[in-house]
Amino acid sequence: MCGIIGYVGSRKASEVITEGLKRLEYRGYDSVGIAVAQGNSIDLRKDKGMVNPVAESMRFLDVSGTLALGHVRWATHGVPCKENAHPFIDCTRTIVLAHNGVIENYSELKDELKKAGHRFSSETDSEVVVHLVEEERKKMPPLKAFMAAVRKLKGSYALLCTVADGAETLYCARRNSPLVLGVGKGEMFAASDIPAMLAYTKTFVPLEEGDIAVLSRNGYKVYDANGKEAVRKSITVEWSLDMAEKGGYPHFMLKEINDQKHFVHESLAADVTNARAMVAGHEAIDIIACGTSYHAGTILKILLSRELGKRAEAFIASEYPFVANPGKKTLVIAISQSGETADTMQAVKFAKSRGSKVLSLTNVVDSSITRISDEVVYLNAGPEISVAATKTFTSQAAVIYKLVSNPGPGQERLAAIPSLIEKAMAQESAIRAVAAKIADKKDIFFIGRGLNYPVAMEGALKLKEISYLHAEAYAGGELKHGPLSLIEKGVPVIAVAPKDESLPKLFGNIKEVKARGAYVVALTDDEAVRNEADVSIPLPPAADATLYPFPEIIILQLLAYHVSVLRGINPDRPRNLAKSVTVE
Ligand code: F6R
Repeated sequence: MCGIIGYVGSRKASEVITEGLKRLEYRGYDSVGIAVAQGNSIDLRKDKGMVNPVAESMRFLDVSGTLALGHVRWATHGVPCKENAHPFIDCTRTIVLAHNGVIENYSELKDELKKAGHRFSSETDSEVVVHLVEEERKKMPPLKAFMAAVRKLKGSYALLCTVADGAETLYCARRNSPLVLGVGKGEMFAASDIPAMLAYTKTFVPLEEGDIAVLSRNGYKVYDANGKEAVRKSITVEWSLDMAEKGGYPHFMLKEINDQKHFVHESLAADVTNARAMVAGHEAIDIIACGTSYHAGTILKILLSRELGKRAEAFIASEYPFVANPGKKTLVIAISQSGETADTMQAVKFAKSRGSKVLSLTNVVDSSITRISDEVVYLNAGPEISVAATKTFTSQAAVIYKLVSNPGPGQERLAAIPSLIEKAMAQESAIRAVAAKIADKKDIFFIGRGLNYPVAMEGALKLKEISYLHAEAYAGGELKHGPLSLIEKGVPVIAVAPKDESLPKLFGNIKEVKARGAYVVALTDDEAVRNEADVSIPLPPAADATLYPFPEIIILQLLAYHVSVLRGINPDRPRNLAKSVTVE
């Protein structure tokens, strides 16, 4: 939800910020802006739209200067438009600020500031912060004024601010929204995530909750939530810039789908020793996650129940505080690619307040969730840029299968996963042909049973989010309890139908929809299903039937990708969405 980046050093700051904003665009693409501080003045340029066209029309690169900050927005307060675009400037036009998060007490603050004579130009919550700094600045020097303003904020924020006073200083703050410092030689960066700074440095300092940092070209200082100077651990990342770029593919999504055959090895190498001990020590396990991660969580629930005999339940994280009753004996497993999802973070906090232990599975090193969990397993999937999660779902599944498999011979089955993924990838031309058949339909149904049902849910989510077609998934047996009335001639039904114990029942469901005229697309390795379907995409046979979700999801991700492209949509940037959802 929104991306921010700041720079101070000796490079042309507008270039650093514009490049960084392109990498942050997956976090929001409603509007974009940049502010460059030069001596005692600020050059502010912003507009509605995506980075490339706005940077070009507003001539971002015409601005010289060595200190700047920028922002890409995912609208929460106020429509996407030029006025609501960040950064925001104060009444004296000498203080400028960009914000990611939600200021919950903005309306009280705005009323007070208006009474004090401040003029507002936007409908956003964020603009109050720059005026607050301005107000405090009347009484104290810039750092103290920034700290005093931040202390008045309620809600979540990652903030970048500078004062055009010739001091070339960038002020940063974070609470419940990510902000990482990048440390270079004679230059400093701050951004919502690491890939935005990867072209310049590999050394990073993730800020902690409540931290305030002051950056100049000579280095940085961090102050904790009590205003005391603090030391924060720096990390060196092994990612190359290449890993955060398209590498010759037309879209990040296609690159990331293809990446899976490499990254799944890394995910299967994750260290789950402590996590496995936590699972072994608990009988009741609550799994919390959102969206794609929730579908991975549903797979985990099935495996924990069926293979380990646990009492496991998967919860949509935003619902968890209203429907669950965790206690000291509950193990909570939180799954989040970004480790920043506000709904998941709140559910984790709720579980912790009840005394539960929390194990989290996440992809982002040092993300917020890692700081409040008792144990963390990293997915090792590398950066995922496309808004739709693909390789991280497979990584979550790989880690999940490792977690539930006993060490030693119990894990031998996992060795088949990479080749199942490769074989599914090899079906791309068949998948593209099916995409062409369904791309102009209105409603598409997915059916599956057992472990194939969460895969069907994920296939439907992927398709709807990037193709804007209406797609729903049902457990095969549920059709006759209502949804069957929606099936009529030509309606596509995608049946996830591997040769496993659930197939005889699913076969019956396929016949039910066929009898009502559905156009059945089967993902299958079964002859009889192939004969019954209108068209089928071959599934590679799996000796261990529990592994079918891996090839199935690759096929469904590719199907969604090709439908999206055929419909003329950019699959990397679906409308109304953003990666890393840091609002509840
Ligand atoms: C869909 C998608 C989302 C995320 C969800 C949770 O393709 O990416 O549904 O899965 O927003 O995000 P994380 O896993 O970062 O908590």
